[in-house]
Amino acid sequence: MTGKSEPAAKIRVLIVDDIQQTRTDIRRLLYFEDDMEVCGEAGNGQEALECIDKCSPDVVLMDINMPVLDGIAATEALTRSHPHVSVIIISIQGEQEYLRKAMVAGARDYLVKPLSSEDMAATIRQVYRTGQERNHGKLLAGVQVTAEREERTRGVYKVISFFSGKGGSGKTFLAGNLAVALAKKKRKVALVDLDLQFGDIAVMFNLSGTRTIADLVSEEDRIGAAQLEGSLIRHLSGVAVLAAPVSPPEAEKISVGHVEQIIKILKELFDCVIIDTSTFFGDITLLALEQADLILLPVRRDIATIKNARSGLDVLNSLELGEKVRVILNQANLDPGIDIAELEHSLDHHISHNVADDEKAVVSSINRGVPLVMEQGGSEISRDLCRLAEKVCSGFTEEEKAPARKVSLRKIFSLTFG
Ligand SMILES: Nc1ncnc2c1ncn2[C@@H]1O[C@H](COP(=O)(O)OP(=O)(O)OP(=O)(O)O)[C@@H](O)[C@H]1O
Ligand SMILES: [Mg+2]
Repeated sequence: MTGKSEPAAKIRVLIVDDIQQTRTDIRRLLYFEDDMEVCGEAGNGQEALECIDKCSPDVVLMDINMPVLDGIAATEALTRSHPHVSVIIISIQGEQEYLRKAMVAGARDYLVKPLSSEDMAATIRQVYRTGQERNHGKLLAGVQVTAEREERTRGVYKVISFFSGKGGSGKTFLAGNLAVALAKKKRKVALVDLDLQFGDIAVMFNLSGTRTIADLVSEEDRIGAAQLEGSLIRHLSGVAVLAAPVSPPEAEKISVGHVEQIIKILKELFDCVIIDTSTFFGDITLLALEQADLILLPVRRDIATIKNARSGLDVLNSLELGEKVRVILNQANLDPGIDIAELEHSLDHHISHNVADDEKAVVSSINRGVPLVMEQGGSEISRDLCRLAEKVCSGFTEEEKAPARKVSLRKIFSLTFG
């Protein structure tokens, strides 16, 4: 008797991992979740297939590297023979290629070790719920699709542009990770690299050598949804990336009109469109700022960044875009002697969000082409990035939105150098 048909039925979870200790750890992590129960354990893919009918799981947590039958082959066999069962892959850092194969084999989601009980429970619930809807054919009904889409988009800023008056303040790093953090929250996310000459989103996502915005615009003057979709690169995280041209001269091919069409179509196709821009206030950057519902402006606590952020904010205010700006203090825990209150006063803006400094993790993620939030679940910086996604979904508080009292930059200079 499984009780599965009763409304209060628990989500039945099968754990497949060749390491006994990992299986025990996962059991422990799920122990306090009232709505789920571990219905079985298997030490490899073959054992999982053999016990599936007996333990009748809703969700399978599947390791990748296992003897006898690995997680990818097992996922493929299991999703074919038991399509109503949802597989969540569990991988370790550096298994991105395997992970991609597992998703192709039919896995519904993935978790990266080390596992947190919060992430794991949320992913299991989400996968289970989607599986239930799929099994009942509800997703096929247009009404359901619309309702789900509304659910996803409610309260979310649609177009989010990053801007900074100073290079190197963290726009690209934050834009890329915000996109992934939103995708983890089941938002359909497009990430557009409008730093057309020196954009490095493709490098950050390890997507070099693929199609770019330059290929898209060289095909035709008028851009259609189908061509645009063909130019987006689907990253493993779920984020659809429109990469910047490979070489700076190609940037010239792209006009404001092209970018306007691109943003218009992406707004139709996606829940969120995240735009990374160049530091230069050109026509295309201005368009990205005008089109944005939210402008995120990263600053660091150094005098040059503060001076340029202030100038950038002045320009945005004069263009009547200031209301949309939220300032993010990047590398917030580095304290070069500039007080947060003075920083807020000098910018005439509250700091709406802090992101911690973590040079080691950031450099490693950029060098490996794996966005940090994909794998550093427990770190402070990763939590800050996920909280930013939360604010983008549910809005900033009134206090975070309010401008600060204006004081002169001279005060900051005297504080720093006086
Ligand atoms: N929170 C952080 N902790 C540690 N290092 C960081 C952090 N954010 C950004 N960095 C580092 O700062 C560098 C600059 O970041 P990024 O390239 O995102 O800035 P940018 O504003 O896009 O620069 P550009 O104007 O050149 O496009 C990155 O290479 C990264 O190593
Ligand atoms: Mg950049």
